[in-house]
Amino acid sequence: MNNPNLVEEMRKISRDPLPTRSPSEIERLIDDLMSKMYLTEKIGQLYETGFDEHDVTGTNYDKSKTPMLIKQGLVGSIIGTHNQQALYRLQKIAVEDSRLGIPLLFAHDIIHGCKTSFPINLALACSFDADLVEKVSQATAFESSHSGVNMTFSPMVDLSRDPRWGRVMEGNGEDPYLSSVLATAYVKGYQQDDLTSYDTIAACVKHYIGYGAAEGGREYNTVDMSEAKLRQYYLPPFEAAVKAGAQSVMSAFNTINGVPASANKKWLKDVLKGELGFDGFVISDFTSTGEVLNHKIARDQKHVAEVCLNTGVDHEMIATTYIDYLEELVTEGRVSMAAVDDACRRVLRVKYRLGLFDNPYKNIYINQEDYWQLPEFLQLAREAAQQSAVLLENKNSILPLSPTTTQTIALIGPLGNSQKTMGGWNGKAWFEDTVTLYKGLQEAYPFANIIQVDGCDLEKPINLELDRVHEVVQQADIVILAVGESLHWSGEAHARANLDFVGLQPQMVEAVLSHGKRTIMVVFGGRPLILTPYKDRVDALVYAWLLGHETGHAIADLISGRVNFSGRLAMSFPYAVGQIPVYYNALPTGRPQHGHYTGDFYFSRYIDIPNEPLYPFGYGLTYSTVDYSSPDVSKKLVKTSGDSVDVSFTVTNTSSVAVYETVQLYIEALYYSVSRPVNELKRFEKVWLDAGESTTITFTLKSTDFGYVVENDQFTVEPVPFFIKVGPASNQTKKTEISLIEG
Ligand code: GLC
Repeated sequence: MNNPNLVEEMRKISRDPLPTRSPSEIERLIDDLMSKMYLTEKIGQLYETGFDEHDVTGTNYDKSKTPMLIKQGLVGSIIGTHNQQALYRLQKIAVEDSRLGIPLLFAHDIIHGCKTSFPINLALACSFDADLVEKVSQATAFESSHSGVNMTFSPMVDLSRDPRWGRVMEGNGEDPYLSSVLATAYVKGYQQDDLTSYDTIAACVKHYIGYGAAEGGREYNTVDMSEAKLRQYYLPPFEAAVKAGAQSVMSAFNTINGVPASANKKWLKDVLKGELGFDGFVISDFTSTGEVLNHKIARDQKHVAEVCLNTGVDHEMIATTYIDYLEELVTEGRVSMAAVDDACRRVLRVKYRLGLFDNPYKNIYINQEDYWQLPEFLQLAREAAQQSAVLLENKNSILPLSPTTTQTIALIGPLGNSQKTMGGWNGKAWFEDTVTLYKGLQEAYPFANIIQVDGCDLEKPINLELDRVHEVVQQADIVILAVGESLHWSGEAHARANLDFVGLQPQMVEAVLSHGKRTIMVVFGGRPLILTPYKDRVDALVYAWLLGHETGHAIADLISGRVNFSGRLAMSFPYAVGQIPVYYNALPTGRPQHGHYTGDFYFSRYIDIPNEPLYPFGYGLTYSTVDYSSPDVSKKLVKTSGDSVDVSFTVTNTSSVAVYETVQLYIEALYYSVSRPVNELKRFEKVWLDAGESTTITFTLKSTDFGYVVENDQFTVEPVPFFIKVGPASNQTKKTEISLIEG
């Protein structure tokens, strides 16, 4: 219910530019403020609670207490920013009624769009386009910063090689280099170069660390791996985000080698704050501090508070161990005043950087709708979706399907006319704004006769309409299948042990394929699904992920050829669930399939499926054919330190269709002091090529690009030979050899 007085006040919130304060001035302001703070008020800065039930569900906080806690200076931040009046009221209490008037920080989960829904992050990663990701993040920040958000819990950079884990949808896939480049793009897009701006928000990079390696892909499960592997694969995207200026890092739910990530001195204090020099604040995941008790490394909640604060968690989300016990713990000497001061300083530092002390209401807008879904954002969402979908099969060039066709098209499958292709973790976006594939096809094919049939239920194994399916397929000249997973089957707490299409869809697909009609299969999902049964039986196979609000328009643009495909897989597609984890940058083993061992039996393999994934990292078809020259190098000998080498190659579009080509550069160590992967992505770029156009690409590799973390956890660059490989996919490359030499 709008309170007219509040609304009038909110309309008068100043939008004057805020002063940019130097780091030293901010530290002085913090010193001055902290000199006045009671211990309880310092502890209050370490607590994030919820307020609007719409945002924060099933938790152990009592929202009715929140205003009183704020007045006592016992709340540092709020998660959930839907109700602008509520935010304004809470901030007024903090600023006007608490003793020192320290402003609240408002945070929200906005990871692939705020009110404009962009493709899920794993789909965006398939664009291999950092500029695009930065633009998407800027648009997301704009909509967020004008609707109460000071900080978003994004980017999620958990590397994952296991599609059984539902949260692969939120990440950047299986490669540390791709994820590092995109992590930087997200942070720069959210924060740009001015955190006091009314158009930017702070980034919170998550989930530190190793969450994507949960055993069995089972949600919240144990993580156990060498430090060298964590440093080589899981740490780089966090390092990139911190270097890009991320203001917060979220500690994860999982254990790392037996120690919970939210109570982990080594990774939080020694590595993140020590080695990486992170000077923002570490926030726990949702009650992940309290759950340290479940991990059984603390005897009670008071002990939890001691362990978590002392190991580097600065800000506790929803759990209340800090405000319940830290004062006692300091009095008892189990937590030092210095530790509380450091955590408090980190939170205040981010608040000052955001300009919240100069304008606590800077991101609160009573007319937030005016800043949402601007035409340019919807156009960007369409372009992002076009670049995120991946063409996996296109036999006899059945695609593109001419937009002037007058044929009868049967659109069959429960995702054909569903708005649940938007993606989970959808911020403040509404399903109702999603353009379905059906709607997109109707607009793109005005002369075709499109018959749309669900064929079965989307979520449950019910309502199989085989008679209707057979009837429609018989009438059709061409079939478009729209199958897979809705957004309800991936995301947090949605691990799957089976990666088939959901419910009775497989049966429904078999009915369709029994007719032998020309068939285009469009698959939706938040993760790689098992496509093996269909790969050789459909004429075209499009992986549409979950593409946000512009789903239907983008897929129709691609199928009709108005836009060419350009997506490449950021995650390998397993041949079978039993093959997981399968990833491109694997070690060769002592008996590689194409190794030196004679005989074709005794090598590292399965006897019932091929070794390779069904579709590898970096793979994706387009409507064009592009020729790659072998790479030339500026030198054959590269020093192990302080040196660089230019790698040049020519790409030629030998087709009549322009293409946005995703060129990739990999390296392979011919040997090293530890066994290294058979392939390591080190550069990529999207290059526009008109029909017939050639262009020469040059990448510069530095000595450190050839380095690796070895068994003593040290990063080394060793004087050994390397292949440098270029091509359109990890398994389609041309190579040349160079050698690193001491120097
Ligand atoms: C959730 C997720 C995390 C999210 C947080 C706040 O459990 O793990 O990604 O940012 O809680 O909603």
